[in-house]
Amino acid sequence: MLSRKMTDALNGQINKELYSAYLYLAMSAWAENKGFKGFANWFHIQYQEETVHAMKIYHYLQEQGAAVALDAIQKPPSEFKTLLSAFEETLKHEQFITRSIHELVELALSEKDYATSIFLQWFVTEQVEEEANDNEIIGKLQMVGDKGHGLFMMDRELGGRKFEED
Ligand code: FEO
Repeated sequence: MLSRKMTDALNGQINKELYSAYLYLAMSAWAENKGFKGFANWFHIQYQEETVHAMKIYHYLQEQGAAVALDAIQKPPSEFKTLLSAFEETLKHEQFITRSIHELVELALSEKDYATSIFLQWFVTEQVEEEANDNEIIGKLQMVGDKGHGLFMMDRELGGRKFEED
């Protein structure tokens, strides 16, 4: 049985995950439009992963007999200055999501809601991986700059990313 406060907080997290999906879909569209199909693929997979995150919480609420309450999703930006700035924005957004997940864990522990705390562990680990991936790509983009052969090679590499459910 989830508390009202926990139910509201988890519904809020669904909204944040869906906004993340929307943001990365916008970045994917922008990258494709600029001719970076590999980067577009990376962001598209990120978009898919975020919908999986939202649905994990959705199913957890259902499993606990709590009400899912969907809210409006904020409009994402449609223009990004450079690939580097898009990834810097991605990292900043993921750091915000990490803080949000940590707040949920703190709430679960303060309520002695052990089931939700265990459920959230997957997200804690996932956030470490997401931030590490973003940092790695930012590092590479800083090395190759925003033009030329290096960027072409990165586009090819990111084009090879495949979607995995977990
Ligand atoms: Fe669902 Fe990228 O955090």
